Amino acid sequence: MIMGQGPQIVLMGPGPSNLSATVQLIMTDPVISHMDPIFLELMDEVMKMLRRLFQTENEMTIPVSGTGSAGMEFCFVNLVEPGDAVVIGVNGLFGERMCDVAERCGATVHRVDAPWGEIVPAEALASAVEKVKPKIVALVHAETSTGALTPIEEVSRIAHAAGALLLVDVVTSLGGCPVYVDKWGIDAAYSATQKCLSCPPGLAPVTLSPKAMSVATNRSTKVQSWYLDVNLLANWWYQERVYHHTAPITMNYALHEALRVILKEGLNNRWKRHQDNHLRLKTGLKEIGFELASPEGHELWTLNPVKVPEGLNAGEIKKELLEKYNIEIGEGLGPLKDRILRVGLMGESSRPQNVDYFLNSFHEIVGKS
Ligand SMILES: Cc1ncc(COP(=O)(O)O)c(C=O)c1O
Repeated sequence: MIMGQGPQIVLMGPGPSNLSATVQLIMTDPVISHMDPIFLELMDEVMKMLRRLFQTENEMTIPVSGTGSAGMEFCFVNLVEPGDAVVIGVNGLFGERMCDVAERCGATVHRVDAPWGEIVPAEALASAVEKVKPKIVALVHAETSTGALTPIEEVSRIAHAAGALLLVDVVTSLGGCPVYVDKWGIDAAYSATQKCLSCPPGLAPVTLSPKAMSVATNRSTKVQSWYLDVNLLANWWYQERVYHHTAPITMNYALHEALRVILKEGLNNRWKRHQDNHLRLKTGLKEIGFELASPEGHELWTLNPVKVPEGLNAGEIKKELLEKYNIEIGEGLGPLKDRILRVGLMGESSRPQNVDYFLNSFHEIVGKS
């Protein structure tokens, strides 16, 4: 197979999204050493820009080398010690994954389940927190598997009133809809580059509050992962600049450029663009007799679950969109398999012309059925 000669795919699935043009270009820059002063300067600028993106003053704000799941592991391995109680809201695949990761760190996990497709109710989390008195309350802000956006502020009040840390997955919200780490009192958050940042997969932006950092640095047991130990990573990223691992240089160029593009657009403009394109899709779908499955008032702009009526084959529609129209979308997962199709409108992919192209192509396919 010769790479680089494939079709241009319109990436409208659950991620990755299409790259910004200048992000694509920057990746052809020559690789330099991770100890080169120019690279160290780039690291400083990446941290600064990530803080603006996360809306935080947290010093520990870095891109972990690895995908979003590495960001999830980073948060749990550093904050959990064996036997710690953790309350996790689960309303989709990534809440499930959080439980698995926390258990592997030795946590006693208390799940608060909500049906897939709904948000995690704050009241249910409150009763679990009251009963368990956990060290951490964790949940997914934007559930990519379903398109539900769970509000964070009330959960934050509940967690902090009980003296717990709040850990939030913002993989599919960061850069696409409002995320306020400091204002919302989030102690640990992680994301991924390939969604609303329009960068290739490979880095996981993370941030830890001073309170979370103090938990991570005053542990009685060693962090079980050497690679993800924040104490070592802090030394490498902003303390003594002691070599930790060979940073993925090209990916850091890409992230630096993606962040520059995002901040140039402005966060408010970017959020508004994502909201507008979500509404354009919702209206267009309605006009052809389809609707979104996301919960009223808690729709995720970046991931739109389209209900698939009885008699239509979700897998066939997805296949035809890719083969005939070069549009990538996602299928439903778990209990929503065959019941929804997931249309991502993230970063560069969130454009009115993409929405219209998708609607026309989708209409042509379902019109034949
Ligand atoms: C909400 C959420 N969390 C975590 C992840 C895991 O990220 P990755 O696949 O980059 O490891 C994803 C990936 O889609 C996600 O959507």
